[in-house]
Amino acid sequence: MKKLVVLTGAGISAESGFATFRDSGGLWETHPVERVATPEGWYQDPDFVNEFYNGLREQLVDAKPNRAHEILAELEKDYDVTVITQNVDDLHERAGSSKVIYLHGELMKACSSRDPQNPFHIVTLDREHLTIEPGTKAGDGSLLRPYIVWFGESVPNIEPAAEEVMQADVFVIVGTSLAVYPAAGLIHYCRRDIPIYLIDPKEVATPSGFNVTVIQDVATKGMARLVEMLKAEG
Ligand code: APR
Repeated sequence: MKKLVVLTGAGISAESGFATFRDSGGLWETHPVERVATPEGWYQDPDFVNEFYNGLREQLVDAKPNRAHEILAELEKDYDVTVITQNVDDLHERAGSSKVIYLHGELMKACSSRDPQNPFHIVTLDREHLTIEPGTKAGDGSLLRPYIVWFGESVPNIEPAAEEVMQADVFVIVGTSLAVYPAAGLIHYCRRDIPIYLIDPKEVATPSGFNVTVIQDVATKGMARLVEMLKAEG
């Protein structure tokens, strides 16, 4: 089986009702990044930060994977698929993707604010326990915080992600502005001879020297077009 590696961003969840970050009306227009997505913002006002992610979580449990997530999961019939996502939602898994690498954390988890990556203090939230209330403590006695990789924090999963990209026979990029590193740099780990498909309704700049086919469309339609193109290639 050929190895298909997919890098996804906020655009793949847009048709499930989620605002992207940098489009007009995007999350970073309505919520200042420095307040809700940096360690400094957290130290300044942890309750405000938890409230922001509590709201996203409430939205997430009522959202559904869209056709793009589903098509990606269905590709596992014909390919060895790895999804590398910058998204913190769980829509890939709920659509049935079996191998998902989260670069920026997971909205449905919470962790210690002293030691965010300590697996002993990472807890999974569910529909009945969706919100982190003010003052809630993690197992180590520090404040419980969202299990999200904020700006300025390290991205522990970038290495396993890069390993996957190095072995890819096909690389697909869906719904990301490729504005945030190190995720945006993953394309550099592709073998130069492999086909790369980029699905996005807007123009997204990619480095030269790669074999990129642009599918300028929204994720649901673009993924359907991708399947046809992959079939035609054999
Ligand atoms: N289908 C596909 N792509 C879409 C759709 C759609 N329906 N709607 C919008 N897009 C595209 C936009 O054109 C844009 O290129 O999705 C991309 C979204 O880009 P960003 O808002 O920058 O989101 P993303 O690239 O995922 O951001 C990366 O930045 O703030 C951080 O941690 C956050 O993981 C996030 C990271």
